[in-house]
Amino acid sequence: MTASISDHLLAWYDKHARALPWRLPPGAPLPDDPAWPYRVWLSEVMLQQTTVAAVKPYFEKFTALWPDVTALAAAPDDAVMAAWAGLGYYSRARNLMKCAREVAVRGGFPTTEAELRQLPGLGDYAAAAIAAIAFGQRAVVVDANVERVTARLFAITDPLPGARKAIRAATAGITPATRAGDFAQAMMDLGAQTCTTRSPRCLLCPLRAHCRAHAAGAPERLPVKPAKKPV
Ligand code: ADE
Repeated sequence: MTASISDHLLAWYDKHARALPWRLPPGAPLPDDPAWPYRVWLSEVMLQQTTVAAVKPYFEKFTALWPDVTALAAAPDDAVMAAWAGLGYYSRARNLMKCAREVAVRGGFPTTEAELRQLPGLGDYAAAAIAAIAFGQRAVVVDANVERVTARLFAITDPLPGARKAIRAATAGITPATRAGDFAQAMMDLGAQTCTTRSPRCLLCPLRAHCRAHAAGAPERLPVKPAKKPV
């Protein structure tokens, strides 16, 4: 059998994964440690609407002050708000505390995407990301970077947001049964660093041979932005 898209991508990730403070080395077994889902959850909440570079020092500060969910749940509101200051979107910090307290009461994070989705502050994306990254579940993780990579790989030319259903289905079709968390983060890294919006670096791309937009010659045209409403 020829190697699949996920095989190529994971082999690339094994060599080129960004080392980030909330990540394990590629291929590492998931730690059996309650602080592990906590760190994944905290990073995903912080990374909503905020760049990796901006999140790094805040993630380090939070995990130094509150190394696990019990510690964060016991922290006074004003201490958490003060630590969050500068990161923006303050409703995230309020939901963070609410979520920490719920999780502390129930004795740990739930492990399925559906249960994670019920927690304060977690939408479809974050619930899928935590299920895949923290618990190794085969969840389909689609953020803006993944959306761009998939739209190009499969030359999905319908405009957003209508194209989202097809993009999600295509992403589901290439998500592997094992290493789903590495796969999701590899798609994110590829989108952030290689399959960039304006000038994709196709010569460096591990998926070039599989990419229909590359074959068609204009990957930067995808995904197609929503049509402007007529005035
Ligand atoms: N953006 C959101 N989650 C991320 C992750 N786990 N790694 C890199 N970028 C991300």
